[in-house]
Amino acid sequence: MNDKEWYDFLAELKAKNDIVDVISSYLPVRQKGRGFWALCPFHNDRNPSLSINREGQYYHCFVCGAGGDIFRFIQNYENCTFMEAVEILAQRANVRMPQFNPEAEKNIAEKKRVKDSCFDVCLFAAKYYRACIKKPENKFAVDYLTGRNITDETIKRFGFGYSDSWEGLADALKREGKNLDTAVKAGLLVRRDDGRYFDALANRLIVPIFDVNGRVIAFGGRTFSKDKDVAKYKNTSVTPVFDKSKTLYALNFAKKAKQSGQLSDYLIIVEGYMDAIALHQAGFVQAVASMGTSLTVEQARQAKRLVSTVYICYDGDAAGQNATVRGLDILKEQGLDVRVVTMPDGVDPDEYVAQNGVEAYRLLLSKALPLVDYKLALAEKAFKPKSDSKSAINEYRRKYAAKALEILMPLSDVDRESYLPALSTATGMTVEFLRAQLMSGKIEVAESKETGVKPPQDVSQDDKAVAYVLASKLNNFSYADDGLSFNGDNVLFNKIFDMITNAKKEGKTVKFGDIYMLEDADSYSESLRVLQDVEFVDEDVDKKSYRDCVDILLKKDLKTKLEKLKNQYAITSDTTEKRNILMEIAEITKKINSKA
Ligand code: UTP
Ligand code: MN
Repeated sequence: MNDKEWYDFLAELKAKNDIVDVISSYLPVRQKGRGFWALCPFHNDRNPSLSINREGQYYHCFVCGAGGDIFRFIQNYENCTFMEAVEILAQRANVRMPQFNPEAEKNIAEKKRVKDSCFDVCLFAAKYYRACIKKPENKFAVDYLTGRNITDETIKRFGFGYSDSWEGLADALKREGKNLDTAVKAGLLVRRDDGRYFDALANRLIVPIFDVNGRVIAFGGRTFSKDKDVAKYKNTSVTPVFDKSKTLYALNFAKKAKQSGQLSDYLIIVEGYMDAIALHQAGFVQAVASMGTSLTVEQARQAKRLVSTVYICYDGDAAGQNATVRGLDILKEQGLDVRVVTMPDGVDPDEYVAQNGVEAYRLLLSKALPLVDYKLALAEKAFKPKSDSKSAINEYRRKYAAKALEILMPLSDVDRESYLPALSTATGMTVEFLRAQLMSGKIEVAESKETGVKPPQDVSQDDKAVAYVLASKLNNFSYADDGLSFNGDNVLFNKIFDMITNAKKEGKTVKFGDIYMLEDADSYSESLRVLQDVEFVDEDVDKKSYRDCVDILLKKDLKTKLEKLKNQYAITSDTTEKRNILMEIAEITKKINSKA
């Protein structure tokens, strides 16, 4: 099957699964006028804020911003992958899943076979390590855990084990007729040049690592040695079933809790598995571990499938590092509400709960800072004046104000306002001045701007105009059917323009719900949101707004052309050519001015 057939198949599924019917099969849906409404399942909704649009075949929540087409709905509601959603919808519409080409099928089958064999040896190893820790002569390993306040029940639940020798695992695998090279592929054994196989985590306490469905996919091994030269933890390397940077440890337990309705709408992300385990034992089923400091897009997506809020709870000294802050932005970009828990320096959640108790930890959580507040606090700390001389204080105020404005820049007007009074007090600058800086989009309080810090992507006024034009086209308003195309800075918007232009060539139209078919639509959540937030009033007003926005686009287009011409002018030496360019420049400048 080629791409076109696949897209036709998806289109068929869309045609046969009306979005109102699909959502109605999961939730009570009420009709109000021409629209349909339901309680949004993606946040704690009190009044129906999920609007379902039959014409456009999309849904959108006015409170939490969730939105998409039928595939997206099933993915989010069922916490499943795109392909799984396709299967569910094919079944629902009684359509057979298409056959892929034999070569690709074979590849998929082969990959699945390799993965299954890895799952198999991992499960075997987990059982082997369990049996090993239960041997009387290895009681010291259990004592170690007991000494860390870990109960027998927790030891069992999390499957703690012990590897007592270099050869034991290989021997056991051999006895059971398992393929040792599969165990090498799964990262459990290391094959030496002399052909002998050794346990990669020999003589370590073993923590099995699970995937989101609870299958063992890897192991962490903690040394008992206090020697600083021995790595405290060794983890299974990257294998066909495991990649540390794409895994959240203990997410399987959180998912189970969610399915039985016991998960509140947040996760607590800690660094180490021992921290996650200690928190679970203390009653926090929502604790997961990132197993390192820098969070990845994949981890953020997995979290987003389960919850809408995450609490980051790293050691006091780890938070605030650049890698951590980048990780927080990644979570934010996936649409998660991010809160940062401030821990005392050098103390991790495991130690904190052991020393201060569960209630104290709960209190810490309740004091977690929203991401923006946290960034502001970091900036304030970073620029703290070194002395109380006037010049030191002035420098601090300037630098802090510049950084703070950069942090506030991406926020909505309303959100910005709530921070200005405190910022004004801290910097001695008036609220009006700070507001004006934010409005102008240029920050000019610092003499020398900090380098190396890229401001988060902001949605510009121009983008808002593009979004309005696109939304009008996606709603298929007749006045918007003008064949206009526009290529600007926003990658997602450009792709949608292309989509509309191409469909028009084939005499088809694009619906709002179709844009989620763009392969990487997810990576543009901010832009998608702007698009979804476009509001229409009535035809007369909308038509006028449409024209205004088109004007903004055309003008922007002209300005881009103008810039290009100016550059050309600068590099051309030919005088005739130069004169021609000047004439073009004059022409375009005239056009721009006539639109002003
Ligand atoms: P920590 O050093 O904070 O360990 O590393 P911890 O969780 O407090 O462990 P305990 O309490 O001393 O037993 C946090 C995480 O960083 C990774 C592991 O995933 C660990 O859980 N790490 C740490 C390694 O991969 N290798 C190391 O040598 C150390
Ligand atoms: Mn620890």
